[in-house]
Amino acid sequence: MDAKTLESDALTAIAAADTTDAIETVRVEFLGRKSALKQALREVRDRETGMTLNAVRERLEAAVDARDDELARAELDRRLTTEKVDVTLPAGGGGRGHLHPITQIRREVEDIFLGLGYRVVDGREVETTRYNFDALNFPAGHPARSPQQSLFIDDKTVLRTETSPSQIRTMEAQQPPIYVVSLGRCYRRDTPDATHTPIFHQVEGLVVDEGVTLADLEGTLDFLLKKLFGEERRTEFRTHDFPFTEPSIEAYVSCHVCDGDGCPVCRHSGWIEIGGAGMVDPKLFEFVGYDPERYSGFAFGWGLERIAVLRHKIPDLRELWRNDLRLLRQF
Ligand code: DAH
Repeated sequence: MDAKTLESDALTAIAAADTTDAIETVRVEFLGRKSALKQALREVRDRETGMTLNAVRERLEAAVDARDDELARAELDRRLTTEKVDVTLPAGGGGRGHLHPITQIRREVEDIFLGLGYRVVDGREVETTRYNFDALNFPAGHPARSPQQSLFIDDKTVLRTETSPSQIRTMEAQQPPIYVVSLGRCYRRDTPDATHTPIFHQVEGLVVDEGVTLADLEGTLDFLLKKLFGEERRTEFRTHDFPFTEPSIEAYVSCHVCDGDGCPVCRHSGWIEIGGAGMVDPKLFEFVGYDPERYSGFAFGWGLERIAVLRHKIPDLRELWRNDLRLLRQF
């Protein structure tokens, strides 16, 4: 092989290449593993020829790199001029997003209570068992205390199973009068199905003042339910049982779909169960050092997902977590 001819052939090809793809082809042809030059280099037996061929290789590599740079820069320049975007044109087409239905309900509930003069307080998603269970009067051996039902970080730390611990933290931090709501995520070791997801949201309400009665609680919940489901709704409260309230009640609202006549949404009963509430058990006051003779209070804790699926007639609660835009865009 004649090194001179080879070099001048290669230089001609390099100069002729007019795209970065073309220069890559030239690189393979003249400098690739199967090129005549590499072949010759492998067969070199004497020092002289070796030095000559290596010098050719080095010059050709430099020439290919230089041409490649040049072409790449030209291609970029071309793209920068042809593909330029006029940033002064009005944007369009992307469409505006909106808040997730759960966030919408959360804000709505917050607004309702801010309008009543309540404060919105934060709780902790990672709680101690003391606040999540002990302070709330959960008896030893209550199933919620077991790792079968709750998600423990360690023996004394748990992902809160409800927003109720915020009651204790609020009472510890201030003296009555208290009018607060606390909204956020809760965690339970539930297998997802149409009515359960292991992460869900609750709104917790707490009122502590002198002379607070069950009638105040029912009046407040009646107001809230009418705001959420319509002024024409009727409400009903049935006795229930929670460790941290005495007495405890469960709030029901007349079905917003059939207005009480009976339909699949209310399982033909005309009533829909919304969630728990009750008068704060004096044991909680003792825990935080309030005088139970002087103060009384009420509390409630409801699921936001439940409110959302009822309001929007979503048949399966898991839909709220799928982030399928076809669903989300409807609300
Ligand atoms: N924490 C209860 C639950 O998750 C709900 C609840 C019931 C909260 C009664 C309350 C209450 O504040 O008074 O099932």
